[in-house]
Amino acid sequence: MRANLTTAARAAAAVLLLVLTGCGTAADADAVGPPDGRLTMGFSQVGSESGWRTANTKSIQESAAAAGVELLFSDAQQSRDRQIEAIRSFIAQRVDVIAFSPVVETGWDPVLLEARQAGIPVILTDRAIQTSDSSLYQSFLGSDFIEEGNKAGTWLSDLYNTAEEPVSIVEIRGTEDSAPAIERKLGFGAAIAQNPNLKIVASASGDFTRAGGKAVMRDFLASTPDIDVLYAHNDDMGLGAIEAIEEAGEVPGEDIKIITVDAVREGMEALIDGKINYIVECNPLLGPQLMELARKIVAGERVLQRVVTEETVFERSGALAALPGRRY
Ligand code: AHR
Repeated sequence: MRANLTTAARAAAAVLLLVLTGCGTAADADAVGPPDGRLTMGFSQVGSESGWRTANTKSIQESAAAAGVELLFSDAQQSRDRQIEAIRSFIAQRVDVIAFSPVVETGWDPVLLEARQAGIPVILTDRAIQTSDSSLYQSFLGSDFIEEGNKAGTWLSDLYNTAEEPVSIVEIRGTEDSAPAIERKLGFGAAIAQNPNLKIVASASGDFTRAGGKAVMRDFLASTPDIDVLYAHNDDMGLGAIEAIEEAGEVPGEDIKIITVDAVREGMEALIDGKINYIVECNPLLGPQLMELARKIVAGERVLQRVVTEETVFERSGALAALPGRRY
């Protein structure tokens, strides 16, 4: 009885702290942690569209095992409806915490309200959402995609800072309506606006896949004369585009300069081979931080509502140095 009162008092204190600080813990007494001490996490992954995603899934699964977290893992195959279904199933199974990487930015409020009503805290990983109520999730762990786009555009602006002719850029965007596609475009656009010679002459989505990147690049090569630069929102689409460029008899990295985002192993190898010119890193190894955040939130501890991943950029020399120790 006494133990129950203590638990209730801790829960009340956690809720009061939430109200006072507006900072992320779960919204009811369940926030103080699973009674048996073993945490169960429901995780809804975007899919398996890219090398980045494979590394991200591995990181989450290995970190859960290392932290003793029971992981219910669900692959949405790039579908928001499947993610919503998975989240509802996690709620029905009364997991301690839900984490997910939202395939697109919008449409999440109703299901997140259901999680809140069930007293289950939610963590966003990798991708952000648009919501009228940011208290529907406790924390968002992931990259700053605007900054990534900005780094890509700044490098290109500098490369062509003495150009006197227009520079024609084609862009292969990620999945429509996803946070990285929207924000990498924004950041890149803002950075190249500083150089009036740089112009995006064609832009289309390759859905973050290699096949999508190849198909889009084929269309660009057929319809757009004299392409100087390709900006692809991830390595996989860049690698698909390289195949299309080579099939068209042009030399990737020379005839067409190529910038990508991610820095997965195959991207880094293409950078070393001179087929890609610049890569902005996006770090997929979010597992350890995610498990730590989950543990704190379920224990009723305060966490930051935004945790930004540390990242760098690579030219050829950096890739040569980094590749041997790279885990993905
Ligand atoms: O959300 C992160 C992005 O999703 C990665 O850059 C891309 O490769 C992945 O599919």
